[in-house]
Amino acid sequence: MTLHFPTAPDDWLETLGPGDVAVGLADPEAADHPDHLTLLSADEQARHARYHFERDRQLYRVAHAMLRVMLGRHLGWPASALGFEEGEHGRPRLSTPAELDFNLSHTRGLVAVAIAPRAEVGIDVEEVRASRVTHNLKKTVFAPEELESLAPMARAQEVTAFFTLWTLKEAYLKVRGFGMGVLPLDAFAFDVERACLVRAPDDPTRWTFEIDRPTEEHHLAVAVHPAPKQIQTHWAST
Ligand SMILES: CC(C)(COP(=O)(O)OP(=O)(O)OC[C@H]1O[C@@H](n2cnc3c(N)ncnc32)[C@H](O)[C@@H]1OP(=O)(O)O)[C@@H](O)C(=O)NCCC(=O)NCCS
Repeated sequence: MTLHFPTAPDDWLETLGPGDVAVGLADPEAADHPDHLTLLSADEQARHARYHFERDRQLYRVAHAMLRVMLGRHLGWPASALGFEEGEHGRPRLSTPAELDFNLSHTRGLVAVAIAPRAEVGIDVEEVRASRVTHNLKKTVFAPEELESLAPMARAQEVTAFFTLWTLKEAYLKVRGFGMGVLPLDAFAFDVERACLVRAPDDPTRWTFEIDRPTEEHHLAVAVHPAPKQIQTHWAST
């Protein structure tokens, strides 16, 4: 296989059990390989071909190859044999049901895949771009109490808090399976200092969140239920 995880125990995906979450990370340039495309289904290959820019095709093929490799190793199925379908709001799921949840996220320079047996999981990664942190965008995406917590911050601290909140909010939307526009972004709120959900339409204490800075340019957040015993994170390479 073309993708492996040099820092991980050989059997980390095979032995993944309830209470474990596996997070695979990849630098799309470093982890790319021509064979990745052969793992993808005809539909995925067609979607891959529709991206106009090579950097978007690369992000897509590395993300979907890593998802297939990780799920295939955990389930003991060939990576290319996995079938996916869209659930409610377009949330991807395996077409042959398995007792696990998975989610993927990609942004410029980083791909992340999370797998959690007998759990629900959502993951989001974002590239830090200070120019995105504008008054208008803050007002569009954050709840009143989130805006209040950002208000007294100096610029550098605000940029960090912005992407922490953004990835937390996305991880929550993604674990719930909400696509764009299903839940208003001010209908739930996080405490950015404690990285926890404080207000939500469901029970906010149901969810455990982990935040990380996998590189200086990237933020990551994972949302899981039930609370995991451990989250194992490893970088992929070819
Ligand atoms: C899918 C969605 C939930 C996240 O998209 P995104 O952050 O742009 O993209 P990410 O890279 O993190 O995730 C994309 C992946 O999530 C998965 N996904 C798709 N629909 C999903 C859903 N309803 N729930 C969970 N995961 C979903 C897919 O695997 C997708 O990968 P693909 O596009 O290569 O097939 C998107 O529909 C969305 O609503 N985004 C914007 C929400 C928003 O306004 N956020 C503002 C800041 S809080």
